[in-house]
Amino acid sequence: MFTSVVTLFCTASSLVSGANILGIFSTTALSEQAMFQMIWKELSRRGHKVTVITPGPLLDYSLVNLTDQGANYSQEDVGFSPIFSSDLLPDQAWKHFLLHSHRKAFETRMLRSDVRDIFGDDSVQFDVVLAEVTFAPVYAFSYKFNCPIIGLSSSPEMLLSFVVHPIMIRESFFGSAANLNFWQRLWSTYAQIRLTLCYDYEIMPELDRIARKYFGDDMPYLGDIEKNVSIILTTHNFITSKPKPTVPALIEIGNVHLKKNVKLPQDLQKELDKATNGVIYFSLGSNVKSANISSQLRNVIISSFAELPYTILWKWETDHLPGKPDNVITRKWLPQEAVLAHPNVKAFITQGGLQSMEEAIYYRKPLIGMPFFADQMKNVRSIAEHGIGVALNTDTLTKEKLKSAILEVVNDKKYKEKISELSDLMWDQPMSGLDTAIWWIEYVIRHKGAKHLRSPLLDLPLYQYLLLDVLAFVFGVIATTLGLLYAAYIYTKPVIQGVVGKNKVKSN
Ligand SMILES: *[C@@H]1O[C@H](CO)[C@@H](O)[C@H](O)[C@H]1NC(C)=O
Ligand SMILES: *[C@@H]1O[C@H](CO)[C@@H](O)[C@H](O)[C@H]1NC(C)=O
Ligand SMILES: *[C@@H]1O[C@H](CO)[C@@H](O)[C@H](O)[C@H]1NC(C)=O
Ligand SMILES: *[C@@H]1O[C@H](CO)[C@@H](O)[C@H](O)[C@H]1NC(C)=O
Repeated sequence: MFTSVVTLFCTASSLVSGANILGIFSTTALSEQAMFQMIWKELSRRGHKVTVITPGPLLDYSLVNLTDQGANYSQEDVGFSPIFSSDLLPDQAWKHFLLHSHRKAFETRMLRSDVRDIFGDDSVQFDVVLAEVTFAPVYAFSYKFNCPIIGLSSSPEMLLSFVVHPIMIRESFFGSAANLNFWQRLWSTYAQIRLTLCYDYEIMPELDRIARKYFGDDMPYLGDIEKNVSIILTTHNFITSKPKPTVPALIEIGNVHLKKNVKLPQDLQKELDKATNGVIYFSLGSNVKSANISSQLRNVIISSFAELPYTILWKWETDHLPGKPDNVITRKWLPQEAVLAHPNVKAFITQGGLQSMEEAIYYRKPLIGMPFFADQMKNVRSIAEHGIGVALNTDTLTKEKLKSAILEVVNDKKYKEKISELSDLMWDQPMSGLDTAIWWIEYVIRHKGAKHLRSPLLDLPLYQYLLLDVLAFVFGVIATTLGLLYAAYIYTKPVIQGVVGKNKVKSN
């Protein structure tokens, strides 16, 4: 009774001062949650009542309009595993990723008591649902609460619900879409068709069944709900992804997660101030643990670091780094922005995560890329393409290669100049990424959706999207015409020869 009065009161007051917003996030990689956190924090600051279910809660009790709740699983629990292993086709990798890892995370979450509370209470109303786009069953929340839904994605490559051009899939999975040769384009088209068919006919029906378990059998088909997503907000950055043909409902936002003004812990501040020879910052992000790289690779890295005249700051996740050289400082966790902001830091060795690269560009630190999986390969390639650093290959890395890459990036001014130039470009935007995100979310709330932005392409079958029927018709006409001409030639040949023959005889 008391709770429903409170809820009623909240609902009534939210009509005046702001909207009631539900956020559902699942990726356990904290680097990816960072972008979403900034968005829901800002929404709550602007007076909306925000409820978020996430593995990365802010737990900041000064944010009185925000309730964020930790999801009851960790990365290890649900067995999130690197996808895009090179011997899997994109559709196989997706199937595994969605029906295994994500499914487990989703079902764990749906059984949580706090989620069941929101779910079971009919007086709870939301004006909009924000959901991470990866796992479609979360879209069913918009059916449950009868409100529009906004998708958020921290990796533009993962947007399956928007049909992409076949040659772009190559970029998504393996790097640049530029200068593909014929066989690569053929492969890419094949992979795109396989992925689309697999998603529509195999994965989606299964996801629909999963959603029905929790949302009931009256729910419309999940694939149709997915197509009614109002807008999708996605991080975009012209350095790691090329400009693409897109639709108006796909809103690109950049640099959302940067906090700026982050402080270093005192001990670290002292160490970095002292290192006037220069500091190299080495972190493989939150998905790849340095402690998990092979001992062979680790030895290559350590022996190379030992020969450098710089201090190395290494994000190493255990207490002891075997064979640690004297010039290496390790920490289990580091406030990355504060480290990159320090003037003595000369270069950043990164696995090529999108957020890390954005931070490096913001703080103008040239990069040495050491990719492991997924979009990192492509991001690291773009480091070299843009001349903001050097790309390495972890499979063939040697002590000499790593050492010379670091020396080159630190000593050759061109990398620093180039990254400063890109930094200026990246920050020259009409509106910050965060303001853009908030504006669009409030737009969807004001207009109760964005039906007018819905792309008609969403209703086209694949063969029409790829113009296969048109091409088949055109080639059919051409082939028929050529066939008729040929037939005409064959039939008239004896006659023509006869005539020519007679003429020849005559003229002789
Ligand atoms: C909470 O929302 C109110 C409006 O409902 C707003 O005035 C206030 O600044 C918000 N507080 C915080 C800490 O975000
Ligand atoms: C989280 O899971 C544990 C069991 O693994 C359970 O006891 C606990 O109630 C769960 N918490 C929530 C909020 O659902
Ligand atoms: C999707 O939106 C259209 C247009 O507003 C509506 O007619 C249809 O019922 C919606 N479908 C689902 C599954 O929500
Ligand atoms: C990764 O490292 C953790 C310790 O940080 C260890 O418990 C785990 O077994 C390692 N996994 C692999 C695959 O090496």
